[in-house]
Amino acid sequence: MKIAIIGTGYVGLVTGVSLSEIGHQVTCIDIDDGKVERLKKGISPIHEPGLSELMSKNIEEQRLSFTTNHQDGIREADVVYIAVGTPENEDGSADLYYVEEAAKEIAKYISKDMIVVTKSTIPVGTNDKILQILQKHRIYDVKVEVVSNPEFLREGSAIHDSFYGDRIVIGAESEEAATVIEEINRPFGVPIFKTDIKSAEMIKYASNAFLATKISFINEISNICELLDANIENVAKGMGLDKRIGEQFLKAGIGYGGSCFPKDTKALIQIAGNVKYDFELLKGVVNVNQKQQRILIDKLNSYFFSLKGKRIAVLGLAFKPDTDDMREAASIKVTEELIKQGAEVIAYDPVAVKNAKGVLDPRVQFASSIEEALGGSDAAMILTEWKEIKTMDPQLFHCMDQPLVFDGRNCFDPESMKNNQVEYHSIGRPAVAVPSRTVPL
Ligand code: UDX
Repeated sequence: MKIAIIGTGYVGLVTGVSLSEIGHQVTCIDIDDGKVERLKKGISPIHEPGLSELMSKNIEEQRLSFTTNHQDGIREADVVYIAVGTPENEDGSADLYYVEEAAKEIAKYISKDMIVVTKSTIPVGTNDKILQILQKHRIYDVKVEVVSNPEFLREGSAIHDSFYGDRIVIGAESEEAATVIEEINRPFGVPIFKTDIKSAEMIKYASNAFLATKISFINEISNICELLDANIENVAKGMGLDKRIGEQFLKAGIGYGGSCFPKDTKALIQIAGNVKYDFELLKGVVNVNQKQQRILIDKLNSYFFSLKGKRIAVLGLAFKPDTDDMREAASIKVTEELIKQGAEVIAYDPVAVKNAKGVLDPRVQFASSIEEALGGSDAAMILTEWKEIKTMDPQLFHCMDQPLVFDGRNCFDPESMKNNQVEYHSIGRPAVAVPSRTVPL
């Protein structure tokens, strides 16, 4: 199949590379000249394990190409994917400007019967609108169909998920169009679920909202555990053994971030609101997450008399490990608050520093190693559970005069911190105190 993909962001690029890997002829289209030039050379704009290798391989084997020219890309294609961004409007709804522009571009250049597949996360009912745009703006009298094919890839394991995902959802009006998209995806070997368009659109939002709900739920349970001296790790394990609950997404921490959960939960509240439905549960999920992102600051504030002049090491900046993505990362709010309260912040992240420099307060300093960040600091905060951080020798915390750690991701076993004489505050577990420590000021 000849496939054109509009948008080489996270979703578009991973989709394009994966589809070329299973044998399709893929052209990725983007309006950004510089980006397209780098992509042609096999340089990936994002840090995603396995992506660069697969990209270079398929460029070399001539199944994957990049262009800024919509006409070239679309004219030859059997199927066109829309994978442009749908950022958040100020009121939380999805901004559909780029989707509309992409649909207009496609309409200008289609000269044969065509299926347009939407990968972008778009509110329920948007595919109908895209079809109207395509029909209104098309130049030739050809048949156009729209198919919803939402993505469920996790950053950091997107290539793995493309080949080993739990399901591929295809929402189509005609069985014929659904079958074409099913055939395109069959080589992935992932179970395929075919349904109607609106349900497919809703599956994406409902799935992300449900996962976000699990996280906010376990975070609230962890807060209660702390007050009652229970241990959230044991509680989550015991809950997860029930197959109806499942062990995944029960990791308590400083809340969810990233490009999907924060945006999609707010968008679903808006989508429900538009049809006069008050999605109270999801509003609670969003509020809990906003509070949870502050939880380490609250712990620090109740520990120190004042943060003024304190040097705080921040370990981990990305919204989760194995990505350099800083979108909605808890580190943004945490470092902002530390600076506001007069602390000196020295941060370390194995890959996200370049992106972090673009979004964090310019007063945040950066260290090139964990040791450098810890040296001379009054306390360390762990915000991302990078492997390098999780597996570090706890003795390294003695780079601080008096090792004091506030761990927002429960990276360490409290017992081992105790054995290493490190004062340790984590999420939903009893704190580990060190008797010899001097009283903080
Ligand atoms: C998510 C969905 O998983 C994916 O299906 C969808 O297509 C895009 O959004 P992603 O944003 O890459 O993927 O990250 P994910 O691994 O789901 O984690 C999201 C956030 O939740 C991270 O900040 C992570 O730290 C947090 N999280 C996740 C928890 O706090 N606890 C958990 O148990 C799981």
